[in-house]
Amino acid sequence: MSTDTLVFLGPPGSGKGTHAAMLAKDRGFVQVSVGELLRREVERGSELGLQVREIMNTGALVPDQVVLQVVRRALDGLRGRKIILDGFPRSVAQARMLDGLLEEFRRRVDLALFFALEDRQVIERISGRRVDPETGKIYHVVWNPPPPGVKTVQRDDDREDVVRQRLRIYHEITEPVAAYYRKSGRLVEIDASGGVEHVYSMVLRVIDQA
Ligand code: AP5
Repeated sequence: MSTDTLVFLGPPGSGKGTHAAMLAKDRGFVQVSVGELLRREVERGSELGLQVREIMNTGALVPDQVVLQVVRRALDGLRGRKIILDGFPRSVAQARMLDGLLEEFRRRVDLALFFALEDRQVIERISGRRVDPETGKIYHVVWNPPPPGVKTVQRDDDREDVVRQRLRIYHEITEPVAAYYRKSGRLVEIDASGGVEHVYSMVLRVIDQA
């Protein structure tokens, strides 16, 4: 089976971004993190950024048409490359839209990796997450501390009240996306509760056996 187009699904803080970055480095994928692309628009203060800033800060989902615009732009610049869609699709409606969009680019979702993690661990991981604003590298104050001298920041949407809202939305709207890919035999579930290296070894096994 070809694995040119991957989707990483899972609750907030389940390690999608961490493992997408590792796989990109080791296996030549390009990581397309929709959350990161949106955050960059917010930082640039673009029209799109101004439109989504408040929505993201409350933990709600950005409107489909905005997200689709961002993904289409990214796909256009990545023809012929192996990609990981990290954090998209986030609803069954978006999954259907993605199928249509990928046809335009002569692609299909080859495999969806679902990072399963309980809510309790989600809160632990997100409350300790720190990001290097210069490189985008993700750290954790306990499990993956930044090297000395590296200045990191906390994401605006990583406050506990916002995380709880993101989790509510995840369970209600995003979780059913797993069933969407399971039905067509394209879903692999990964137990994301172990340490980074352990989880990553499972990711590699799945990709290398696909
Ligand atoms: P987005 O940026 O996609 O956030 P998310 O999906 O909530 O996921 P996170 O980035 O929080 O977590 P992650 O799974 O990547 O975990 P990470 O690797 O960082 O979206 C943000 C917002 O953008 C949304 O709320 C929405 O408003 C908007 N948006 C985005 N996409 C959208 C869409 N399609 N439609 C509409 N709106 C959209 O890991 C977390 C922490 O845990 C880190 O500190 C890491 O170091 C640590 N860690 C990771 N793995 C392990 C491990 N195995 N053991 C110990 N620690 C670990």
